[in-house]
Amino acid sequence: MTDISVLLIGASGALGKPLLEEFVRQKKQFERVAILATPDRASKFKDLDAEVIAGSLYDPVSYRGFSHVISAVGNALMVLQPAMVEAAITAGVRHFYASEWNSDIAQREIYDMRYFRDKQAVRAYLRAKASQTPGFQYTLMVTGIFTEWALDEFYGFDHKALTAEIYGEPGARIGVTSIPDIARYTVDSLRIPFEGQGRTLRVQGWTGKLDGLIAELEIARGVKYAVTWVVVNEAKVKEEHARLKEDDLGEMMFSIKTLLASGHGVADGVGRLDNHLFDFQPEIPRQTFARVFEDNLA
Ligand SMILES: NC(=O)c1ccc[n+]([C@@H]2O[C@H](COP(=O)([O-])OP(=O)(O)OC[C@H]3O[C@@H](n4cnc5c(N)ncnc54)[C@H](OP(=O)(O)O)[C@@H]3O)[C@@H](O)[C@H]2O)c1
Repeated sequence: MTDISVLLIGASGALGKPLLEEFVRQKKQFERVAILATPDRASKFKDLDAEVIAGSLYDPVSYRGFSHVISAVGNALMVLQPAMVEAAITAGVRHFYASEWNSDIAQREIYDMRYFRDKQAVRAYLRAKASQTPGFQYTLMVTGIFTEWALDEFYGFDHKALTAEIYGEPGARIGVTSIPDIARYTVDSLRIPFEGQGRTLRVQGWTGKLDGLIAELEIARGVKYAVTWVVVNEAKVKEEHARLKEDDLGEMMFSIKTLLASGHGVADGVGRLDNHLFDFQPEIPRQTFARVFEDNLA
């Protein structure tokens, strides 16, 4: 067992839930694992095998007694993470995992993508804060696109009609990791110490071309998809319309629809992968797709 005590924020989210399951599975490795939820949300965790701290995300009292905080918050709270870090540091937290789990947003080509703006702000804040706070460290987990979400309706797939309308052109490089593997990489990473203020861990379950990923889906399902490629500018026009209407979420979402076939939906666009630091074999996409479609049919 380590002397690590973990507080997880966003435990009911798309990633937070599998993260919590992985923490529960590896509970013996940690001194303490708990969820932080606001009082209005805390009751939804009452049947789970986990300690729940009901309190404000911005009050140091909520963070007392924890060494590590994992923030798996979604878009609405993304830009508010600095306030969580302030509260956590005041309470004595030594290590903060920011809500990341994306492609490497340090890549120049996607650096200015609207979807990532809040994450860039949090990165800049963490760099500055850690440089002024002795003993405080942060981790950014970079994982590529979630395999389960990569060929989703959001990116233009229709799994009943067996069609796909994708912004971009064929042949783009892509990196994906399945959600349970992302949870495992994240939980395992807590036991990998490092020197210095901050680190970026880049892991990827599968790397290839988007066409290859679609072929994996076709093999898993035993079907063929009719794919249409749409000019990227159409998404950019919709993004701009949303911006002018002050529709922040719409603006964010149209910006990221172009990521799939951009060639930059990868974890290793800037630095090398760190998969060698971990001792398990990730799922390949056809296994993930087989699992997802089996679950959907069950
Ligand atoms: N690479 C990829 O393909 C990919 C795909 C998806 C997500 N991600 C990343 O993964 C991370 C997590 O995203 P997600 O999709 O899992 O987020 P999500 O499903 O939206 O979950 C957000 C979590 O925050 C909680 N929350 C929201 N408002 C709250 C409030 N006011 N007080 C307390 N808790 C609140 C939610 O609780 P409730 O359930 O009660 O609202 C939920 O647990 C993000 O950084 C996201 O960008 C990456």
